[in-house]
Amino acid sequence: MIRLEAVSKHYPGIARAAVAGIDLIVPEGTTCALIGSSGCGKSTTLRMVNRLVEPDAGRVRVDGRDVSEVDPVTLRRSIGYVLQGIGLFPHRTVAQNIGTVPALLGWPRARIAARVDAMLALVGLDPGRYRDRRPDALSGGQRQRVGVARALAADPPVLLMDEPFGAVDPVARGRLQVEIGAILRTLRKTVILVTHDLDEAMRLADQVVLMREGRIVQADAPLRLLASPADPDVAGFLGEDRVLRRLALLTVGACASPGQAFDAPPIAADASLKDALALLLATGAEHLAVAGSAPPKRLSLDAIRAAAAAGT
Ligand SMILES: Nc1ncnc2c1ncn2[C@@H]1O[C@H](COP(=O)(O)OP(=O)(O)O)[C@@H](O)[C@H]1O
Ligand SMILES: [Mg+2]
Repeated sequence: MIRLEAVSKHYPGIARAAVAGIDLIVPEGTTCALIGSSGCGKSTTLRMVNRLVEPDAGRVRVDGRDVSEVDPVTLRRSIGYVLQGIGLFPHRTVAQNIGTVPALLGWPRARIAARVDAMLALVGLDPGRYRDRRPDALSGGQRQRVGVARALAADPPVLLMDEPFGAVDPVARGRLQVEIGAILRTLRKTVILVTHDLDEAMRLADQVVLMREGRIVQADAPLRLLASPADPDVAGFLGEDRVLRRLALLTVGACASPGQAFDAPPIAADASLKDALALLLATGAEHLAVAGSAPPKRLSLDAIRAAAAAGT
């Protein structure tokens, strides 16, 4: 668990506090996304967890321990850190990059090599093809995969990610978000993710924390945030299309009802209601048939409308 208690940071010579008294709890095995416009204090908040920035006031605890009492180098080896684009050592191979922390921890060579290959496979890169490459021989998306593999190599319980997919093109980004999200959930890591991409926050986080001028404006589960924004500014930040964002988070399987839908276009149970709505509009059908469900299930436009309204 990560816990911030009344944490503040004031950079010297800057009038306004970068972070002004933040309380935050990230339960073990969950992902918390910090979101908000540029300069609102997201990165500063993140970096106080691994002591790249020291708070002026308040306390940061990781698994109950006050981080100010832990040697910063030891602390950072126990916390994975993923940054946008940069962060890989350019003159070292992928394997050397991923093995950095295990090597610092004194693991035997063979164990490091095995771990490197396991991590590459985990993030979807063929070890035989990629372990001896240098970062400049990788695409942006592949580099970010290696960044995640490196952060996970020593199996830290806590992971900090600062705009991890910011340098990746939008198509690769969506796929990366889905895959990395699945990995983090499977491994039950405790994660703080900084992003300015609302869809990314919604997709990956159990808790979305919206910040403004160094403070937390609202912290809620994605669906709750979309359903009840704390004030008009939050609603504005979530956008006119927050109904669509809500539909993107709900699955066909959860909203379908029993029954045959004759001649209806099929849709997968794990597709989103947003996809279902698009399919209904594109085909002009009144119902969709949930593919492969026994007994048969169907989804109507009315059911989508009801699901959308439940959040307004
Ligand atoms: N090292 C620094 N020295 C002085 N001011 C800083 C430093 N880092 C960040 N700031 C300022 O603190 C505020 C919050 O920055 P930051 O935490 O990086 O925001 P975000 O990650 O949300 O964009 C900004 O006004 C920024 O200019
Ligand atoms: Mg930042």
